[in-house]
Parts: sequence; C-alpha cells; structure tokens
Amino acid sequence: MSVTVRVPAKVNVQLAVGAARPDGFHDLANVFLAVGLYDEVTVTPADELRVTCTGPDAAQVPLDGTNLAARAAVALAARYGRDPAVHIHIAKDIPVAGGMAGGSADGAGALVACDALWGTGASRAELLDICAELGSDVPFSLVGGAALGIGRGEKLTVLETGGTFSWVFAMAERGLSTPAVFREFDRLGEGTDIPEPVASQPLLDALAKGDPDALAAAVSNDLEPAALSLFPELADTLAAGRTAGALAALVSGSGPTTAFLVRDPGSAAKVAAALTASGTCRTVRTAAGPAAGATVIDRPSHE
Ligand code: C5P
Repeated sequence: MSVTVRVPAKVNVQLAVGAARPDGFHDLANVFLAVGLYDEVTVTPADELRVTCTGPDAAQVPLDGTNLAARAAVALAARYGRDPAVHIHIAKDIPVAGGMAGGSADGAGALVACDALWGTGASRAELLDICAELGSDVPFSLVGGAALGIGRGEKLTVLETGGTFSWVFAMAERGLSTPAVFREFDRLGEGTDIPEPVASQPLLDALAKGDPDALAAAVSNDLEPAALSLFPELADTLAAGRTAGALAALVSGSGPTTAFLVRDPGSAAKVAAALTASGTCRTVRTAAGPAAGATVIDRPSHE
C-alpha cells in the first residue's frame, strides 16, 4: 500500500529582492512558473521513517532528517498526533542545488503523499501552512501553475497564463547554496539603497497573454549578479544560449541552473543542441510551463 505524488520544478520569471529583514530573510516579489521536469515521491508504511533516492543527482541528496521530504512527514504527523513511520522514496529528476526548487518539490510531494496515505482530511490551507514552515518555495511546489509569491515568497497569489511557454535548462557542473547567494546579494548591495520588491506589470500581462516575446522582454532576476559573482562561468552558458537564438537567458532563482525562454518546442531543440555542443554546462533539458502542482498519480486501488 503506497501513494505516489508527482511534483514539478520551477523557474522564476521575475525575482525582485528587497533588503535583508531583521530575521535574515529578504522580502521578495517572486513570480514562479512551474515547468514539466518532475520528481516522484512515493510513501509506504514502514517500521520507522526513512528516505531513499534514485536518479542522476541522487548521491547529493541528504537522506537524513534534514531532507525536506522527511521534515514534511514529521510536521504532518505531529499535527495529527501520529507516528511518521513511512518509507519515502524520491525518484529525482529535478537538478539538486540548482535553483529549480527540487528540495521544495520533495517537501510538497511528501506532504501530499502522506496526507493521502494517512487520510488526515487536512484542508488545503493547513497543508499550505505546513509548506510555508518547511521553506519559502514549498507552497508554490504544492500549488504549481504560475503564481506571485510575496513576503519570503510563501504568500501566493495564483496567476492566470494565456499559453504554454517553452524552456531550455542548462545544469551546471556544481551547485550553489541559496543562503550563500543571498549573502552575496547583501554584500554586493552594501551601502546602496535597495528598492522595495514589486511585481512587473508588463511581465504579468505577458504571462496572461501567453506572449513569449513580451515575457522575454520582461524577465528579471535580482539574484543573477550574486550568482554570477560566485560562479562567473555561468556567463559563458548564458552567452551560448543567447547566441543560439534564445529569446531570453537568465539564472533560475539562486542558480546555478540557467534558463532559456524560446518561442516553441522546435527552437527549444535547437537551443538545447547548441548548449550541449558549447561545452559550458553539465546537461541540458527542455520543458514547458505552466505545469500542474503536486498531484497524486498512484494510490491504493481500494480508496
Ligand atoms: O526558506 P528557505 O529555507 O528555502 O530559504 C533558504 C535560505 O535562503 C534562507 O535561510 C535564507 O538565507 C535565504 N532566503 C532569503 N530570503 C528569502 C528566501 C530565502 O534570504 N525570501
């Protein structure tokens, strides 16, 4: 008896970052788009909580209590006075430490899977509360589609999208730590006035219209200079994608995955081939967004 949940990666089409808050976090205007690269999280009753992981990056995934999937199971069990004794298996396809919310996806996936397995009857609002406790990007992994996140990025407003956007993603040779990138953002901004983060209206309009050219003109990531400062070689990957005809090239979230918006799946294949040939990245993937949030894809047939 087990439950499997499929959960998407994300790209930030806008990431506006404010000054550091007293709690160390930064206020954001974070426009998320879920894309069709997925982890699958399967939970099965077991004697005690344990986590396993398979996939190309599996060796880099922590399997102890720090894994967001384990923390999600513990948080839900605590709320309902249960023992979190489940085996959580993560079939990982989202790059690790890549700025595509792979860890957050596993947290949201495990939460939805344990909820279905245990039949807690938790409301969507309760699940979103637990997600927000787990991490700033976890609520979006649950919701998927497109959304504006404010506060730490956890306070979501769902956004309408008027079409599907095609993307190419270039995975880097090594990861970047999100806290390190935010610290570098603070260091680079020292002594300057950092404006309040605000969502871009032209960007929201482009999403609503499903217009890739307008979206390309409006994408932005305030963390990009910090990611490039810590990982200067990413500039070569961005340049290779632009030369190959991408409409826009940007670092995804805190990086180091780079994201290339293209007009259609045909251009995606062309840009992907050029990025692979450029030798400036580890692997290249294509995906479209918006994609659905955490979704139960397999559950016991008697339910
Ligand atoms: O919320 P989450 O655990 O994903 O955040 C990871 C780290 O990223 C935080 O510890 C913090 O250093 C940084 N962060 C931030 N401001 C945000 C979100 C994350 O400074 N809004």
